[in-house]
Amino acid sequence: MLNLFSSNKTENEDITLDFEKIPKHIAIIMDGNGRWAQARKLPRVMGHKAGVETVRTVVKKCNSLGVKYLTLYMFSTENWKRPKDEINSLMKLLAQYLKSEFDELNSNNVVINHIGDISKLPEICQKELIDAYEKTKNNTGLVLTLAINYGGRDEIIYAVKRLYKDISEKGMNIDDIDKDLFNNYLYTAEMPDPDIIIRPSGEQRLSNFLLWQCAYSEFWYSDINWPDFTEKDLEMAIYDYQHRDRRFGGIKK
Ligand code: IPE
Ligand code: IPE
Ligand code: MG
Repeated sequence: MLNLFSSNKTENEDITLDFEKIPKHIAIIMDGNGRWAQARKLPRVMGHKAGVETVRTVVKKCNSLGVKYLTLYMFSTENWKRPKDEINSLMKLLAQYLKSEFDELNSNNVVINHIGDISKLPEICQKELIDAYEKTKNNTGLVLTLAINYGGRDEIIYAVKRLYKDISEKGMNIDDIDKDLFNNYLYTAEMPDPDIIIRPSGEQRLSNFLLWQCAYSEFWYSDINWPDFTEKDLEMAIYDYQHRDRRFGGIKK
């Protein structure tokens, strides 16, 4: 047990994390970069740059807390609607992040995984993502999954298409289809469902993130924009999570 001091709405309250109940899988919708920049009269890209610093902090913290899976929503299938300049900047930041962080992540035993249709990304991003995964896939620490050109609905359609192919080619029986089998066709087949979904910036929606996987996830929202999100906020989210009563449809014992 570790005593921690929270910097947000429970300011001045001591919080104690239970290390027996650290969530196995944390998923974060990293939002509010644009508003963070606008509030400082800076271009939006400066908000994205500042957001990368928060990524560094949060990845480190999750690793040190013993979180096994961290999934970060970086670019949605709907984010292509944004101005070209902003999209280009985001892609550049992604490639830079992978280059600059690789050694440290790898030496900390992190698996650098990705989900989403990366074939639509600039070649340099595809290359960095594939290389990073290939070089780290046998690591045994935190599995860091970057969701890029990811959309929950696209993921489900992609799964249905591949399942249909297997049914027609392998002569599978329709009755073989169940939740576990379907799960194997998702990008996240190898991962447990997220225990908690964190969304900063004040929005309270999923924005097409992990639609299938979050059936029983706990949600945690905060008004803080992503570049201002600190490790204390992460601890607060985990603390709240540890005090939720997860019943999964059953009743309290
Ligand atoms: C999140 O911040 C980053 C991405 C979606 C790529 P936003 O860019 O959405 O920031 P806001 O919501 O406009 O403040
Ligand atoms: C969700 O944020 C996507 C990512 C954080 C990558 P958005 O800013 O795109 O979501 P909406 O448009 O507010 O729902
Ligand atoms: Mg946003």
